[in-house]
Amino acid sequence: MARLKPRLKVGVLASGRGSNLAALIEAAADPAYPAEIALVVVNVKGAPALQRAEAAGIPTKLIEHRAFPDRKAFDAALDAALREAGIELVCLAGFMRLLTPGFVEAWRDRMINIHPSLLPAFPGLDTHARALAAGAKFAGCTVHFVRHETDTGPIIAQAAVPVLAQDTPDSLAARVLEAEHRIYPLALKLVAEGRVRVVEERAEILGASGVAARGAAPVLLNPPEEA
Ligand code: GAR
Repeated sequence: MARLKPRLKVGVLASGRGSNLAALIEAAADPAYPAEIALVVVNVKGAPALQRAEAAGIPTKLIEHRAFPDRKAFDAALDAALREAGIELVCLAGFMRLLTPGFVEAWRDRMINIHPSLLPAFPGLDTHARALAAGAKFAGCTVHFVRHETDTGPIIAQAAVPVLAQDTPDSLAARVLEAEHRIYPLALKLVAEGRVRVVEERAEILGASGVAARGAAPVLLNPPEEA
């Protein structure tokens, strides 16, 4: 019998609600998905992300940043937990701690993050309120490899959603979140399949030239022409 290709062992770091974690868990529940969630580390006691992982039967670790004297010591504990579990790729899923340059470098091109804006626009916090204040007509989300500067690094996948006239930060966040739940599993799949290569700080997706090669790429207009 042909032996199944081993799935990439993924560790997820989360701090809060855990809806992106849930999207990854759901995708990885399919045995054909090329990655398995082998460990979930949460840094905030009582975070719903922890319960979601436990409910799915995934090994979890609570590593509270408050218990450590500084960022370096906290990151060393994270690193030890990930290595002990044999983790090959780290996914940040609403992980709201800045990581030290040493940790980021140790996991270079083996750590990805999801951010709720179309990077490089709106890195940092309050992305939806800032997109609305800027009058942006599209918003969205980005999955990228992690670099030391916050919310930078080679972009693996993005999803765009329109900004509607009556949007509030919350309504826009909800629309973007739905897109997050689609692109994070997609981006992780591409990475786990070995189809993402970083060349000169850009992520190249092997075999993904499809749309443009076959014909005109779709153009999204907002407002639409008939407006
Ligand atoms: C998500 O919207 C994620 O993109 C964002 O936090 C939320 C976490 O939600 N991450 C960042 O802002 C990181 N810069 P979740 O816990 O339900 O996945």
